[in-house]
Amino acid sequence: MSFEINNLFREGLPAPVAARFSGYPKYNFVGGHNDNDGIPIDDFIAAMTRSLKAEGKNLATYGLLSGFQGYMPLREHIAKRLGRTAGMKDGAENILMTSGSLQALELVNDLLLTPGDVVIAEEACYVGSLGRFARSGVTCRGVRMDEHGMDMDHLADILSEQKIAGKPVKFIYTIPTVQNPTATVLPIERRTRMLELAAQYDCAILEDDCYADLLWEGERPPAIRALDNAKEGEGRVIYCGSYSKTLAPALRVGYIVADWPVLSQMLSLKTDSGSPALEQLMLAEYCPTHFDDHVEKMKSVLKDKCDTMVSALEENFGASAEFSRPKGGIFLWINLPENVDTVRLAEIAAKDGIGLNPGSIWSTNAEKYRSRFRICFGHPDHETIREGVAKLADICHQEFGVPLRSGNTVR
Ligand SMILES: Cc1ncc(COP(=O)(O)O)c(C=O)c1O
Repeated sequence: MSFEINNLFREGLPAPVAARFSGYPKYNFVGGHNDNDGIPIDDFIAAMTRSLKAEGKNLATYGLLSGFQGYMPLREHIAKRLGRTAGMKDGAENILMTSGSLQALELVNDLLLTPGDVVIAEEACYVGSLGRFARSGVTCRGVRMDEHGMDMDHLADILSEQKIAGKPVKFIYTIPTVQNPTATVLPIERRTRMLELAAQYDCAILEDDCYADLLWEGERPPAIRALDNAKEGEGRVIYCGSYSKTLAPALRVGYIVADWPVLSQMLSLKTDSGSPALEQLMLAEYCPTHFDDHVEKMKSVLKDKCDTMVSALEENFGASAEFSRPKGGIFLWINLPENVDTVRLAEIAAKDGIGLNPGSIWSTNAEKYRSRFRICFGHPDHETIREGVAKLADICHQEFGVPLRSGNTVR
């Protein structure tokens, strides 16, 4: 009799991965990948060499003599920089290094959520978080958005409805600065109002801020956590950051900033005895002297790619593609005419090597967003962007008659 290990798998697992990894699509407009040429390889080599020479012997200990929260010099750098760029007052003791910010999100869910709970998020939302909420068995209620992000009146309504229904909200999940996928930036007044509402309804806020450094137009508002004037130990905002979007997603270095009551409990849930050390050693050496300059360069590279993507969309889709020009980040959120189902579009486009993210999957309201899609411009080069968007427009025209084409003036 053959042995089928699947029979031994526990109940309630998520669906298995559909197929083994077989490479990225040629026109890779999905995922938070970075610009290949933007990786500061020589500076990484120099920083890694210096840090290994100085600290290599401490690899012999778990946690590099800094404990399980992560390498102290890196945490000190992050705390100082968040003070300068996001107005945060936290010291290194309030930081926990994680394996990407995805582990940070997992830990927050693990800490706060029980099946049946209710959380709130922006109505269009990062699929990685929506999937994790679904897996935690909670209901995620979407808040309407406008060009400035979450609508605070609608947020207030949902909080109130949930309280009346006897199912108060556990936390508000928000990506306030360069929201994924809409690229909106929540103004300071709304951040303050969100804090007031969270206090009124006694819930926490999970602030996912991995794109905030990539804002190339307008001022970065203070982090929501920075606006919370709670006493030490009583803060309601848990903040997550990452080096994935600014430096390199493959490093898998993210962090949580929170008060000790949160961190102390989280440390008992984070059972990996500390996040990997080499990346932390290298970043602690690299960042204090290079990170700010690197971010400035990345913003200019990304803005140029964004301009190319916008021109390609205008040229190939004309008025059929509606979108706001992002002020930062790596993606555009496009609205096509309502007869276009972007799940179907993504399926057909995938056959021609084009990857895109359908709106119905990237939201809490599949029907409302079925003609939307997210397209990322951080990774492909300019030529690939132009070529891929032209192909996508052809495919979309063939399947949905969108964009309209008249005479010889295509697109
Ligand atoms: C909003 C948001 N949060 C978290 C993540 C996870 O990033 P990482 O685990 O690479 O830090 C992403 C990645 O795309 C994201 O867009």
